Amino acid sequence: MLFRSRFLLLLALAALLAFVSLSLQFFHLTPVSTAKNGASSKSRKRVMPEPVTEPPVTDPIYEALLYCNIPSVAERSMEGHAPHHFKLVSVHVFIRHGDRYPLYVIPKTKRPEIDCTLVANRKPYHPKLEAFVSHMSKGSGASFESPLHSLPLYPNHPLCEMGELTQTGIVQHLQNGQLLRDIYLKKHKLLPSDWSTDQLYLETTGKSRTLQSGLALLYGFLPDFDWKKIHFRHQPSALFCSGNCFCPVRNQYLEKEQRRQYLLRLKNSQLERTYEDMARIVDVPTKQLRAANPIDSMLCHFCHNVSFPCTRNGCIDMEHFKVIKTHQIEDERERREKKLYLGYALLGAHPILNQTISRMQRAAEGRKEEVFALYSAHDVTLSPLLSALGLMEARFPRFAARLILELWQDKEKPSEHSVRILYNGVDVTFHTSFCQDHHKHSSKPMCPLENLVRFVKKDMFVALGSSGSTSYYDACHKEGF
Ligand SMILES: *[C@@H]1O[C@H](CO)[C@@H](O)[C@H](O)[C@H]1NC(C)=O
Ligand SMILES: *[C@@H]1O[C@H](CO)[C@@H](O)[C@H](O)[C@H]1NC(C)=O
Repeated sequence: MLFRSRFLLLLALAALLAFVSLSLQFFHLTPVSTAKNGASSKSRKRVMPEPVTEPPVTDPIYEALLYCNIPSVAERSMEGHAPHHFKLVSVHVFIRHGDRYPLYVIPKTKRPEIDCTLVANRKPYHPKLEAFVSHMSKGSGASFESPLHSLPLYPNHPLCEMGELTQTGIVQHLQNGQLLRDIYLKKHKLLPSDWSTDQLYLETTGKSRTLQSGLALLYGFLPDFDWKKIHFRHQPSALFCSGNCFCPVRNQYLEKEQRRQYLLRLKNSQLERTYEDMARIVDVPTKQLRAANPIDSMLCHFCHNVSFPCTRNGCIDMEHFKVIKTHQIEDERERREKKLYLGYALLGAHPILNQTISRMQRAAEGRKEEVFALYSAHDVTLSPLLSALGLMEARFPRFAARLILELWQDKEKPSEHSVRILYNGVDVTFHTSFCQDHHKHSSKPMCPLENLVRFVKKDMFVALGSSGSTSYYDACHKEGF
């Protein structure tokens, strides 16, 4: 058996579908530049891996395509699937912002010309795009916690600013919102049509790309919502740790993790040669090139089908891209093995998980507030959450990734509540560390809420291996770690 679990098989199938459809579009992506140095035929071949003999999960081009998450494939999703005697009580959605312009420039090259205005005659498109723009232009009367009120409500620069959300990013989240609308509102009636402000909990970091992603999802979810009912909270920390961010041991794990990353990079001589070659092309010291995090910019070129930049010394090409991307995959693999990141993730994700279970417990008691919570966040938010929940096989959060926790009540036993966990539409409930064993001796296709609560209140700290820690505060301040 090639696949170790059903989860892997599901992911692989979903991925394969996406890949077949995406690769048709991207077949001609290989930039002009690679043709010059004779690498093009080889790159072509790598773009379409043989799915049977070459497991797609390790192909760098395939991974990059999934990361771009180009809207085109009608996705199948498992959100909201439950036996008919279950009632949906609350939903907690964590998203990564959609496709964005790079945060860094490759030194001494022209930055990619990407238009961040929203227009109907450009792909990808969503039928609600114009209505979204028009609704956003009327966005007064909403309450945005400072400093959110000073951010633009939708992307609007003809040449994108650094880090700006693109039309692709908006479309990705309009799609997410519409999908959640069909399932949670139309099918499960999570909110009444006259929903009120306190039934939504909305929180975003202070970047325009996260606020705008949150608004696009919200617009897909509740088209033409009443601005006066919207209250967006600001979260200063990418970990969403609110008043509980001080945690020295978490920082120690992070430093060790960064050291591991550094050592792995040093061992990769092909990677080193690639950076040297790219530095020669753009004519800066290798160190400076590496510090400019070129893969961030290259991914933008890749996802937007824009040739990699050239100088009179030559072109950055697909081979450079593949070497760096392959290293990233290798880095993630080692990261899972060495478990330093897991320590960071458990402590980093505790405050937001703790907040989420409190919100779930209140909903389970029958309170009607905050039944839909949306956290608009970053890869550095979702990644620790996934690791902390034990979802080791989960891919690095792609653009517009979504992690969802659903709370259900058994109508036949109203005091019993259960949770389902979904990542990008895949049901991963039984892959979490607190529910792995559960389905082996239960007929219910869900995880008891108590399992999640016990995990967050206690077992998270046991998983840290710091013997004796029974609270977040203890675990964060353990002497002699
Ligand atoms: C990508 O770019 C090539 C060459 O510029 C073009 O022929 C092709 O249609 C583009 N593909 C997509 C999906 O936009
Ligand atoms: C966890 O949640 C409880 C209840 O809301 C709260 O009193 C406590 O301070 C939280 N702890 C942390 C570390 O977030």
